Amino acid sequence: MCKRSTTIRVSPTLDALSHAAAQDLRTHIASILETHDRYALALAGGSTPERLYELLAEDGNLPWTRIHLFWGDERFVPHDHPQSNVRMARRTLIDAAPIPAENVHPIPVKTDGPGAAAKAYAEILQEAFSSQQTTFDTALLGLGADGHTASLFPETDGLLDDYRWVRVVTAPDRHDVPTRISCTLPVLNRSRRAVFLVAGEHKREALRRVVDEKDEFLPATHVRPRGSCDWYVDEAARPSGSP
Ligand code: 6PG
Repeated sequence: MCKRSTTIRVSPTLDALSHAAAQDLRTHIASILETHDRYALALAGGSTPERLYELLAEDGNLPWTRIHLFWGDERFVPHDHPQSNVRMARRTLIDAAPIPAENVHPIPVKTDGPGAAAKAYAEILQEAFSSQQTTFDTALLGLGADGHTASLFPETDGLLDDYRWVRVVTAPDRHDVPTRISCTLPVLNRSRRAVFLVAGEHKREALRRVVDEKDEFLPATHVRPRGSCDWYVDEAARPSGSP
C-alpha cells in the first residue's frame, strides 16, 4: 500500500463516486498547475471510469491545453476495437472535450507486434518524463475482482523489481483480451499519486484484501506512489465491517 497517506471515500453509487473523483481531480489539477506547466493524467481502462470521464468532458473549466492524457495499460487490439481502452476514452472523454490532439498519448497498437508496442510506448513515456523523478501527476487505476490493476495480474511474474517502463503481459484465461501492454509497477509508483475507482459487490473481497489485509499476492497492494493513494469506492464494494 501507499508509502504516504491512503484515503478511502465511500459513495452510495458509482455515479456518486464518479462525481467525487471528478471534484478531486479538478482540485488536484488546479493545485499542480499553480507550479507546473503541465498535468499528466494516466487513464484507466475497463468500465468503472466511464462516468468519471463523461463528467470531466462536461466540465467546461478544465484547462485541457495543459492536461496530457496517457494510459496505464491497453489491450493489444486496434483502437477502434470494442475492447480498446483508447476507444472507451475517446467515446466518453476525448471526442467530447476540447483536448488538443497533441495532448493525447495512446499506447501504440499499430506496431509490429506487442513487443514493439511496449517499446514505442516506453519511448513516449521516457520522452515525457525522463528528466523528472515523477511520472504521472495522477495515475487513475481500477481494481479487478482478482486484485489486478492496470494489466498487472497476480499471475504476472517479476512485478516488483521490473527495470522496464512498459511490458507485454498475457492476461490469464479468465480475461477477454489476452495480450496487454502495461506500465510497470515502478513507473506507476513514480506517479505523484494514485486514484483507484472501485465499484460493485464483486470487487468487495479484492478491496478488502488490498486495503485491509495489504495482501502482497495482489498487484494492487504494491501500488505505492510518491504521494497518496485515494480510493473512490461505492457502497457495494465496501468491505463489510470497514468504517
Ligand atoms: C483494463 C484495466 C483494468 C481495469 C480493471 C477493472 O484494461 O481492463 O486497466 O485494470 O481497471 O480490470 O475493470 P472494470 O472497471 O471494468 O471493473
